[in-house]
Amino acid sequence: MSMKNKICIVTGSNSGIGKETALALADMDATVVMVVRNKQKGELAQREIEAATGNDKIDLMLCDVSSMKNVREFTANYREKYDKLHVLVNNAGAVFSKRQESEEGYEMSIATNYLGMFMLTHKLIPLLKASAPSRIINLSSGMSKTGNIDFEDLQTTRNYSSMKVYANTKLMVTTYTYALAEKLKGTGVTANVAEPGFVATNLGANTGSLRDKIAFMIVRPMQVSAKKGAETSVWVATAPELEEVSGKTFAKKKEVKSADVSYDQEVQRCLCEETMTLLGLDS
Ligand SMILES: NC(=O)c1ccc[n+]([C@@H]2O[C@H](COP(=O)([O-])OP(=O)(O)OC[C@H]3O[C@@H](n4cnc5c(N)ncnc54)[C@H](OP(=O)(O)O)[C@@H]3O)[C@@H](O)[C@H]2O)c1
Repeated sequence: MSMKNKICIVTGSNSGIGKETALALADMDATVVMVVRNKQKGELAQREIEAATGNDKIDLMLCDVSSMKNVREFTANYREKYDKLHVLVNNAGAVFSKRQESEEGYEMSIATNYLGMFMLTHKLIPLLKASAPSRIINLSSGMSKTGNIDFEDLQTTRNYSSMKVYANTKLMVTTYTYALAEKLKGTGVTANVAEPGFVATNLGANTGSLRDKIAFMIVRPMQVSAKKGAETSVWVATAPELEEVSGKTFAKKKEVKSADVSYDQEVQRCLCEETMTLLGLDS
């Protein structure tokens, strides 16, 4: 399949699933904008992808998605540089072993896994609409089914547990994506969730916690490769048969059911409203 003349953003594309997603899109001749927070790591991955695909339309842009200031700057820079966006893969994500806060005072798991993608998408929607047909792919996890959205304590100031909070933020991603799909109906912009499965990447292995590191080493033999893990993201981003499909979750290139609560329109509405307030956005 050719993605020639299509411009794709992949966040967190210097490693793991994001890097394989960027590589696969580059291999289809897309213009790929790799969004990373670390210039050195990004340049290394960019060179590898260029060498592997022969595609010279691989751009590298810096953004720490846990910083809303950074996300605003990145989206402004992107709009100056490009006048189109056909595929937005919100892939960047992380697990935090201990509760930490960003400079702006957001708990780091929610900032990295959910608020950053919300802000980034919000700022790029006008461009996605102007480039339609276009697609948004948000990375969630099967773990979202064990998550919970506590509207009284969205930033987990009490009872912090790394994997529990990770699952909560992924449930927010799924729930938000369904609300977004509804909002974008009729615009030619689709929004879907990709669940990559259980994938051997740096996720969880680089939290700095020995316990997490050992836990991830034990489960490693059960994990699939990052290339395999990227297949669903790439398929949702490119498959012609999905051009008009929106508001769904896909795993192993098939539609799957997500947590019951994610389909609840009242929860979706509350989550979007609370998020807009948290981010200081008004429309
Ligand atoms: N691996 C799995 O089994 C699994 C399962 C379900 C869902 N997922 C999801 O898949 C996505 C990709 O994760 P992965 O497994 O490929 O892990 P990974 O190898 O650790 O990749 C995560 C990527 O996100 C980037 N990132 C983290 N925090 C960031 C920030 N604040 N700003 C910008 N970039 C940031 C990382 O950059 P650095 O290299 O600079 O840290 C890295 O490029 C995540 O959303 C994850 O939650 C993974």
